Amino acid sequence: MHPAHTPVSAYLCDVIAQKSVERILDTARIDEVVSDFVTLRKRGANLLGLCPFHTEKTPSFTVSPAKNLFKCFGCGRGGDPVKFLREHEGFSYPEALKYLAAKYQIEIEETQEQRRDDPEEILKDQLFVVNQYARDYFSRQLFESEDGKALGLSYFKERGFRESILEKFDLGFAPTGGSTLTVHAVHEGFRSEILQQAGLSTSHNRDFFRERVMFTIHGLSGKPVAFAGRILGKTAKGPKYINSPETPIYHKSNVLYGLYFARQAIRKEDNCYMVEGYTDVLSLVQGGIENVVASSGTALTPEQIRLIKRFTPNMTILFDGDAAGLNAAMRGLDLVLEQDMNVKVVVLPDGQDPDSYLSELGPEKFLHFLETERKDFILFKTSQLLQQSKNDPVARTQVIKEVVRSISRVPDPIKRGEYIKVCSQVLQVEESLLIAETNKVVATDIQKDRRDRERLERREEVTHEQGTSGTALPSPTTEKHPPQELDLVRILLTGADKMIQVGEEELTVASYILKELEEEVVQEFKSPLLRTIMLDCLDRLAKGDSLSSQVFLQHPNEDIRDLTIQFLSPDYQYSDNWEERYHIVLHTQRMPEDNFARDAQLALQRYQLHKLDHLCDMNAQRVKEAFEANDEEQYLHYLKFQQELQTLRNNVANQDLNTVVLK
Ligand code: CTP
Ligand code: MN
Repeated sequence: MHPAHTPVSAYLCDVIAQKSVERILDTARIDEVVSDFVTLRKRGANLLGLCPFHTEKTPSFTVSPAKNLFKCFGCGRGGDPVKFLREHEGFSYPEALKYLAAKYQIEIEETQEQRRDDPEEILKDQLFVVNQYARDYFSRQLFESEDGKALGLSYFKERGFRESILEKFDLGFAPTGGSTLTVHAVHEGFRSEILQQAGLSTSHNRDFFRERVMFTIHGLSGKPVAFAGRILGKTAKGPKYINSPETPIYHKSNVLYGLYFARQAIRKEDNCYMVEGYTDVLSLVQGGIENVVASSGTALTPEQIRLIKRFTPNMTILFDGDAAGLNAAMRGLDLVLEQDMNVKVVVLPDGQDPDSYLSELGPEKFLHFLETERKDFILFKTSQLLQQSKNDPVARTQVIKEVVRSISRVPDPIKRGEYIKVCSQVLQVEESLLIAETNKVVATDIQKDRRDRERLERREEVTHEQGTSGTALPSPTTEKHPPQELDLVRILLTGADKMIQVGEEELTVASYILKELEEEVVQEFKSPLLRTIMLDCLDRLAKGDSLSSQVFLQHPNEDIRDLTIQFLSPDYQYSDNWEERYHIVLHTQRMPEDNFARDAQLALQRYQLHKLDHLCDMNAQRVKEAFEANDEEQYLHYLKFQQELQTLRNNVANQDLNTVVLK
């Protein structure tokens, strides 16, 4: 049934108190949580089942009750109970916590303090609340009001949409009145400014959507972020669709219509169908094709592609059967190739869109059509352009350029090679020519990339030297954490509370590492995230708070939680080139959890070596400069320093590892 009338207070969301968070996370058992969705069998200490995130015949989905983690060795997904629910159910973090609280009958204590001091968050909350109200209002209008039933419901039914699909997608009806929604909402206690900001009321406090059928646009967690209103019938005046404006909770370029409902099917089918219109999504889903989203009639954005990529690397784009927009649309698809997505396209017969064609064929034949007619995007584009250019040699050169451009966007060199081979046949040009042309484009791109990266690194270096590195923005480069830093953090996140003996002294891994690395040293960490973690640890240690994996798994910072999960996963990859780089034999790489003492010391040692290497390099440069400038005094000065650095480095490298033993 459609949603019943819900009072405003029910929409108010609070922040779950950290105390409750900890209780929930302490209580939730991964095997119990997963078992609600996946059939698990016992296999040694672990449980095994078919992965719910990808299609497989032999089970590779492993649940470790001891570690309280899941891990799929097929698709690589893994994490704690919260992570499982977020991935499987598309819950947000608080939603997952609430689910677990209900499952384990834990009472949630809520505070509003955290939100109160962040006006941006408060506004977002208010916008969600007012949108939820509007969604329910439009829905009630559609199913209960006379106008709604006569105009809206009958319109949808005429188009063949069943009530279940209308309810599932939160479709509704905006009444004819002029300000009915606004008046009701204000009466319920919503402020007009919020209604205006959400785009539901105009600046004159009239309803923005009037006498239209309404489409609710859902965010990834299912909350209503915006609305679209379609005019009734074909003859009425005014734009066919009007949409909510951009708001703090709605950025058109980050949203795909239908994704909330499609995400599990996309994962299961390992493919996402992309259509243009809202009604196309409804039709396909009603026809049983659930892995479908709509671009809402605009060019795809990188953000939207990344959204899909979270669920599958494969997408199939359905083009309406009019050739007009095709070339322009194809140009936009290079963007998708860039993200290492496998793109197929299907062109519908003239004059059809997915909704109309599915109605004509019926779901079964339609699906068959999609599966037999879809073509690889690059090959499709090649033959399409070739057809258009006919025998015009100038146009043909242009075609080759276009195709090369697309191929060069494919990041995987093996795939690129295959495309070159096939396209050279289709275009009837030498493979070597295509290779040369493609390489040129790829090389230019790589150079540009490198320049960008160097610029970023230089900028970082500067801020670093000025001692303000704490404010450096996290960027893709800084996110690629230096391995020395990552290693230290890994040991802290996974074994901070392990006891080790250093000489006479018995202490925790955390205090051992943090004693050696004081605050000034930590401030020099290049990675902002890792620096934050280290400073946080220092802070907790100073306060006498306990430090353990459990603490990090429950950390308020999501990045820290994720990193901990990654480290705790059984197949975490250690960097493998330490031995060549530092001539250190790593005894501990196999089972670090069994040898924290040695691991901790090695990590420290590697960090120090890394720093010393860097200093050596810098100083060597000074030696060279002084030499070239014939500045003998400076030259000797730096040369002596170089020797000292070398000695220091060798001492660190040869440190006796036997002084630290595991308790
Ligand atoms: N669109 C829009 N504003 C418009 C026209 C179109 O935002 N004035 C977007 C909508 O997301 C729409 C999509 O472009 O769903 C495709 O447009 P169109 O094919 O014209 O609409 P359909 O979704 O096919 O709607 P219908 O089947 O009701 O004609
Ligand atoms: Mn249509």
